[in-house]
Amino acid sequence: MKKKITVLSGDGIGPEIVNEAIKVLNRIAVKYGHEFEYTYVDIGGCSIDKYGAPITEEGMKKCKEADSVLLGAVGGPKWDSCPANIRPEKALLAVRKELGLFANLRPTKLFSQLSSASPLKESVISNGIDLMIVRELTGGVYFGKKELKEVNGEEVATDIMPYSVHEIERIGRVAFESAMKRNKKLASVDKANVLETSRLWRKTMHRLAEEYPQVQYSDILVDNAAMQLIKNPTQFDVLVTENMFGDILSDEASMLTGSIGMMPSASLSDTTLGMYEPIHGSAPDIAGMNIANPIGTVMSAAMMLRYSFDMKDEADDIENAVNKVLDKGYRTGDIMQEGCIKKSTSEMGDLIVSEI
Ligand code: IPM
Ligand code: MN
Repeated sequence: MKKKITVLSGDGIGPEIVNEAIKVLNRIAVKYGHEFEYTYVDIGGCSIDKYGAPITEEGMKKCKEADSVLLGAVGGPKWDSCPANIRPEKALLAVRKELGLFANLRPTKLFSQLSSASPLKESVISNGIDLMIVRELTGGVYFGKKELKEVNGEEVATDIMPYSVHEIERIGRVAFESAMKRNKKLASVDKANVLETSRLWRKTMHRLAEEYPQVQYSDILVDNAAMQLIKNPTQFDVLVTENMFGDILSDEASMLTGSIGMMPSASLSDTTLGMYEPIHGSAPDIAGMNIANPIGTVMSAAMMLRYSFDMKDEADDIENAVNKVLDKGYRTGDIMQEGCIKKSTSEMGDLIVSEI
């Protein structure tokens, strides 16, 4: 198969980790007779420096025309004081919105080889951690009306959190379908005791639940969900939630595995076009040092093959290769353990390639 991939390496460690994912994709292309064509587009701080905008119109067009998009990370202290409309993050939100990437899948899995990296007690994680967070990505407070005005000589800021039934329904369907493919267990996270959007969310989810009687469905309030994730994470399988709750809970959940550097994500639309990125940030403090962990990005490339290109064997191949490399005791600095062998970013990429 021939596929066009738009590559948004971004800032900080972005280019280094994306390089390794591309090495892996190239190996897959050779092994399975595919052709991957890459188009590089600047995004985030590097684009602000070059063009005065976090992404150009031309760049956005190249994302829309692709079969899928691979992203590293955006942002860094250098651009923290940029005005709100040209911040690096703005480009990320614009790509999500313009490509219609409403469904963000964040699988959170504890690699058995790294179980001692989890900050939780052995007794809490003895059954392993394997969650799927389904985060709504193009609605809610991220995209609602924002305002900063002066009232009685004092600044007042407002962020509106709108949700319509169709937005809730389509993310709900993704979550129920995901639950059907996994362990048929879904928890919907909301704040229905306070928020009107959450009450609509819950009502809509309940209606969907009737269509999926095989799925064991429950509601959970977001504050309780945050607590339960630490207290007893293995009670969950698929979690579905709105944009900002999902942002917060997915960072929390990733830490249960002790290694945010390992976690991939997929942002999906209602076509096969998707964007794939590690959930960690641009780590400016270690940029350019060839020490970042590329596994989150490599695993994101695997998700791209699985979800956008329907290449299941190829995706499995990458995931197995990562497991073999970990089994052999190779680690980047962030996941280094006693008795293991420390590897650089590019060495880690080469090792994964050699297992495919
Ligand atoms: C994420 C990030 C983004 C978000 C930021 C960079 C805008 O934290 O992908 O989780 O909040 O969605
Ligand atoms: Mn986040």
